[in-house]
Amino acid sequence: MNVSGERSKAIWSAVDFSAPMLETKITTEVAVIGSGIAGLSVAYELAKAGKNVVVVDRGPIGGGMTARTTAHLSSYCDDGFRELIDMRGLDIARGWQESQAAAIARIEANVQALAADCDFRRLDAFLFLAQGSDPAIIDRELVASAQVGMIALRHGGVPFAGYETAPTLQFPQQATFHPTKYLSALAKAIRNAGGRFFANSIVVSVEEKNKLVTIKTANGEEIEASAAVVATNAPITDRIAISSKQAPYRTYAVAFEIARGSLPDALYWDTLDPYHYVRLQRGEAESDMLIVGGEDHKTGEANDGQTRILSLSRWMRELFPALGQEIARWSGQVLEPVDYVGFIGRNPGDDHIYVATGDSGQGMTHGAAAGLVISDLILKGDSPWRQVYDPSRKPVKALGEFVKENATAVKSFVEYLAPGELSSLDELKAGEGAIVRDGFYKIAAYRDETGALMKRSAACTHVGCHVRWNSFERCWDCPCHGSQFAPDGEALNAPAFSALGEAEN
Ligand code: FES
Repeated sequence: MNVSGERSKAIWSAVDFSAPMLETKITTEVAVIGSGIAGLSVAYELAKAGKNVVVVDRGPIGGGMTARTTAHLSSYCDDGFRELIDMRGLDIARGWQESQAAAIARIEANVQALAADCDFRRLDAFLFLAQGSDPAIIDRELVASAQVGMIALRHGGVPFAGYETAPTLQFPQQATFHPTKYLSALAKAIRNAGGRFFANSIVVSVEEKNKLVTIKTANGEEIEASAAVVATNAPITDRIAISSKQAPYRTYAVAFEIARGSLPDALYWDTLDPYHYVRLQRGEAESDMLIVGGEDHKTGEANDGQTRILSLSRWMRELFPALGQEIARWSGQVLEPVDYVGFIGRNPGDDHIYVATGDSGQGMTHGAAAGLVISDLILKGDSPWRQVYDPSRKPVKALGEFVKENATAVKSFVEYLAPGELSSLDELKAGEGAIVRDGFYKIAAYRDETGALMKRSAACTHVGCHVRWNSFERCWDCPCHGSQFAPDGEALNAPAFSALGEAEN
């Protein structure tokens, strides 16, 4: 159970923007499904260009994974440029870096144009050699960064205990911001440009026919559009084509108080896999916040969030002993593409449905890049970075990763044959969930704090993988493609949009 006894909460305030539910049939030029940074970046570019835009979200505006980011804005590839060049070739790697730098520049321009009060600032980023990492990494990344056109400088360590002289790369002119304040500014600007918003409206299908796209919602309403953009973290429209080329990972974050001025304002990353990431955020009064993240694991393959949070805290306090008290702890989910690059562009097999997914832990810049790429595809028919992010590409050089990540699905289906985690529901403690066998069926059982039992089918409503209990977030996680469900079965995160089914009796 997390500290508050509910789903964890990041330090960011909710997006300051409300919208009604869709309760009528409407038409528009472009419908954007999902109101995180990808959806709102696309919607803003199109609304600014005079397009009639509608944004629809299953929950509140901006209430998805963007509200759980730690918002490092960098055009450095977190898988390393050497890996990216080897995987996709130098031209694509250059295009990726160029597009990510352009995404940061577009955020900066938007902040200025909208006078958005969102703590945006340019700062340096530092990649420092962790104990136990291959010492050759820093030199390798220095060379690879130059090859892709990103400025990287050798630097003499970082201001963390034990790392003052560690081999380090400095990347000038990276950035950070307050993600939900930025989304608030974008949403208001879209509405001012005539855009319409619908919250708490669950989209259940997006279909293209005769150059028109029809979007249906769970309450029976429809949007008819000339084009649709699916920006739902993992795409609700996809079962295999994209889902099999990316895998969900959970990542953890903790925020602490820190005396203002005690650590230079910068982005800090180490070279471990998974790596630690650190940044500062302006706080109230005299103190700021330090946010550390890391301890990633494949979704559903560990249920030890509190232990990972403690490990993150211990690591950070060792490196920076003057840290103040903890303010918040939370987790989020990232989608890792098998060839390191997100999927932004025309949905495979469609002409007028577009998709943005596969943020690879760099969701803020990927989301802003989606704004550039998809708006160009819709307005001009092409984008200079179309090939970089092409959702239909075959990741031929990532065959090993492809097989490894898709083994999760096979393993998940085999679990239906295994015994349950508990032999009887009587063993289930209050506030916990577990998979229990009931004859031929597997049941996802949750007992609330009052002792009441909720029983749902353990089959994810996306493609049927076997869900797993997440004690830290108190939700059911699907290890295959990242769907999440509340204890009572309600779908919380795409690609699934339907609740877990009734438990068979
Ligand atoms: Fe695809 Fe669960 S998310 S089967």
